[in-house]
Amino acid sequence: MSVTFSALENILERYPPSSEHLISALQDVQAKFNYIPPAAMTAVCEHLGVPVSRGWAVATFYKSFSLEPKGVHEIKVCLGTACHLKGGARLVESLERELKVERGHTTRDLRFSLDTVNCVGACALAPVVVVDEGYQANTNSRRLKKFLKNVTKE
Ligand code: FES
Repeated sequence: MSVTFSALENILERYPPSSEHLISALQDVQAKFNYIPPAAMTAVCEHLGVPVSRGWAVATFYKSFSLEPKGVHEIKVCLGTACHLKGGARLVESLERELKVERGHTTRDLRFSLDTVNCVGACALAPVVVVDEGYQANTNSRRLKKFLKNVTKE
């Protein structure tokens, strides 16, 4: 979604101009655009009277904020101990090749974001890959490839 004036206005009008609303306003921006666009950061900081450098410091500190556009689908490969032992790292490498994107980044077509996590609490199902909110349990490269093909058809 592009950064439109009206989309930002809807967010800014919820907050009186005070630095105490920085995180909440950025959370709204994140929810709206799925990342923090530079133009939105500038608008939020100007509105709240906060230096833009502070806004970026906050956005960088909290992992819940993304500084680059996220894909429509988020893929998180578990690299906790159990998943690592059952081939989690190979799954990441396979996905990087398949999607032509490095972990921590988003495909050019904005369909997928690929990242890793440390244990999602389902070790008995290792290796686990979380796609959006769903767990792909005991998975492998071939099954993942097939699953992702179906996801993009939806
Ligand atoms: S190590 Fe992957 S779910 Fe626990």
